[in-house]
Amino acid sequence: MNQDQLKQLVGRAALDYVPAGQVLGVGTGSTVDCFIDALAASGIAIPGAVSSSERSTQRLLGHGIKVLDAADVTGLAVYIDGADEIDGRGFMVKGGGAALTREKIVADLAAKFVCIADESKLVQTLGAFPLPVEIIPMAAAQLTRRFASIGGTASLRAGVVTDNGGHILDVRGLAITDPLAFETEVNQWPGVVTVGVFARHKASVCLLGGAGGVKTLS
Ligand code: 5RP
Repeated sequence: MNQDQLKQLVGRAALDYVPAGQVLGVGTGSTVDCFIDALAASGIAIPGAVSSSERSTQRLLGHGIKVLDAADVTGLAVYIDGADEIDGRGFMVKGGGAALTREKIVADLAAKFVCIADESKLVQTLGAFPLPVEIIPMAAAQLTRRFASIGGTASLRAGVVTDNGGHILDVRGLAITDPLAFETEVNQWPGVVTVGVFARHKASVCLLGGAGGVKTLS
């Protein structure tokens, strides 16, 4: 199976975690696109979804699935989203699609984070994938220097403005051995909106698609 087929496989597998009759949190990315398509085809009835991006909102609406504002719910049972990297403890790097801030907001509303990914995303140590960080544009140079001081090389993602009007720094060269401490530290740096390490909001369950089918890590 190629990577696209694996994404479709885990997208379908995630249907088992959809709480019928309840509002669902929906992430962003090509794997989530497969999930949204599978959800629409499944006939599982949900009153609506809270979406983490304009991209997912458009796809949900295109399938006739109602999209609710995050402010319209007090909590979600389940949030389903992809990842750029995930380790064996459920810690993730996210934000390859520049939606990390809204993803963290919707994940924060949810009791359970179901991560869907192909097996190429499973790593020992986070950091090989360039770490996305949403920033306030004015802070770009100062934050670039701060990342350099911890061994990271940050570059501005050209031409990208997030759904929130922020910019994205992609940081290469980091080995994130303590994701919780790293997330806590970088979140304190002025100008950082959201760091793409999801440690406080780690995956509760990960469905990993591979040649042998779908493996569940929890
Ligand atoms: C978007 C994300 C995505 O979940 C992540 O980039 C994975 O995307 P894909 O499913 O396309 O590989 O964090 O901001």
